[in-house]
Amino acid sequence: MADSVTITDNRTGQTVEVPLVDGTVSAKAWSSLLPGVWFDDPSFSATSGADSAITFLDGGAGLLHYRGYPIEQLAERTTFLEVAHLLVRDELPTASQLKDWQREIAEAAPIHENFHKRIFEGFRDDAHTMGVLVSSIAAMSTFWPDSKDIENPDQRRAEIVRLIAKMPTVAAGAYRRNVGLPYVFPDPELDYTSNFLAMMFKVGDSPYEVNPVLRDALDMLFVLHADHEQNCSTTAVRVVGSSHADPYVTVASAAAALYGPRHGGANEAVLRMLEGIGDYSNVDNFITEVKAGEQKLMGFGHRVYKNYDPRAKILKDTAHRVFDVTGTNPLLDVALKLEEVALADEYFVERSLYPNVDFYSGLIYQSMGFPAEMFTVLFAIGRTPGWLAHWDEMLSRNSRIARPRQRYIGPADRDVPDIDSR
Ligand code: SDX
Repeated sequence: MADSVTITDNRTGQTVEVPLVDGTVSAKAWSSLLPGVWFDDPSFSATSGADSAITFLDGGAGLLHYRGYPIEQLAERTTFLEVAHLLVRDELPTASQLKDWQREIAEAAPIHENFHKRIFEGFRDDAHTMGVLVSSIAAMSTFWPDSKDIENPDQRRAEIVRLIAKMPTVAAGAYRRNVGLPYVFPDPELDYTSNFLAMMFKVGDSPYEVNPVLRDALDMLFVLHADHEQNCSTTAVRVVGSSHADPYVTVASAAAALYGPRHGGANEAVLRMLEGIGDYSNVDNFITEVKAGEQKLMGFGHRVYKNYDPRAKILKDTAHRVFDVTGTNPLLDVALKLEEVALADEYFVERSLYPNVDFYSGLIYQSMGFPAEMFTVLFAIGRTPGWLAHWDEMLSRNSRIARPRQRYIGPADRDVPDIDSR
C-alpha cells in the first residue's frame, strides 16, 4: 500500500497522487490539480503551517518534547536558561557555554532609563500589566532600529539575547509602576529567575532574600511555558514575522495574542473563575452552568491535547512543593474538586476536556505573591525563547509572506447608488 492519497477531480476525471510526508500532504499538488480551489479551515485545526524542528506534541498520548527531550526530564534536570539555549541555539549548553550564555543575558538585562521615565509613566495607574508589556515590547523597536536587519543571522542572534534578557526587567518594571514602588535594576550577580524575583519584590536597600524552593518552582514554570509548537501566539510570530517586521513588534504581536483568555490569558481567568465559585460546595452548580453552555471551565480543554496536558501533571506536583513553603492556597480545594467532578462527567470526557497548563499555574503564582494581572506576563517571559526560536527558524528558511485565501460569502457585484437613493 503506497504511502499516498489520490485526489480525483470528478468534473474532469483528472487525478493526482500525493505522497504522505510526515503526516502531511502538500497543498501544491492539490493546487496543481485544482487551481483556485481552497481548503476551508478557518482555525487551521487541520492545517500544517510550517516545517519545524523545535517542539513535538502528541496530543493523544500527552507528549511534549523540546528538540527531542521530554518535558518531564527538562523540568527536572535543567534550568530555564538552559532550555532557552536549547530552543534558540538548537542544543543544551555545555557547562562553559552556559556560563557564557548567563553572562550574555545578564549584561543585556538593563533597559533604557526612558522606559521608566517616559513609557511606563505614560499609562493610567490601573493599567493591566499585559497592556503595558505588549506596548513596551513594541516600543523597544524604536530603541534598536538595527533590528530591522532581520535577514542578518548575527543581528537576529543579538536581538534574541536582548529580548530574552529584557522581558523580566520590563515585566517587573510594569508591576512596580502599578503598585507604586521604585524600580529595581537588574543585578548581574543573580541568576535569571532570582534576578526577576528581586526586581519584582525587593523593598528598601537590603538584598532580596530569594527562597530557593520558590525560585526553582518559578524557573520550572518558565521551562514548562517555553514553547508549544504552532499555538496561537507562535502562529502570530510566524505570520507577523513573515512580513519581515522587526523582532520587537513581532514578539509584541505574539504577546498580544497570548493575552486572550482562550490562550495565555486563561491562567488569570482560571483564578477569577475559582474566586467566583468561592467554595467547593458551589462546584456542582458551576459545572451545571458549564454543561448548559452558560460558563466555560477555564483551564480545561486544548486544541491538541485530547488527554491530560503533561505540563498540568508536573504543575500539580510543583504546587504542593510551593504550598509547603507558602501555605496552601485556599482555592486549591475548589480546583481539585472541579477537576474531580469534570473528569468523572460524560460532558467533559466525550469532549476530551482535561486540565491544561493554565489550570494550576495561577494558584502557584498567587501563592508566590504575584497578582492575577501578572500571570499572563509570567507566561510571556517563559514563552519568549519559543517565540524567538520559531521566528529565527522561519527566517532562516527564507519562507514566503503568510497570506491565506478565503471563501467569499459577501454580496455579488453591484453598482454604487447615489446617496439620495441609498
Ligand atoms: C493555552 O495551543 C496551545 O498549545 C496553547 C497553549 C500553549 O502552551 O501555547 O497550550 C496554552 O492556550 C492553553 C489553553 C488555555 N485556554 C483555556 O483554558 C480556555 C478554556 N478552553 C477553551 O476556550 C478551549 O478548550 C480552547 C480554546 C483551549 C480550545 O478550543 P477548541 O480547540 O477550538 O475547542 P472547541 O471550542 O471547538 O470545543 C470543542 C467542544 C465545544 O463543545 P460542543 O460545541 O462540541 O458542544 O468542547 C467545548 C466546546 O463548547 N469546550 C468547553 C471548553 N473547551 C471546549 N466547554 C467548557 N469549558 C471549556 N473550557
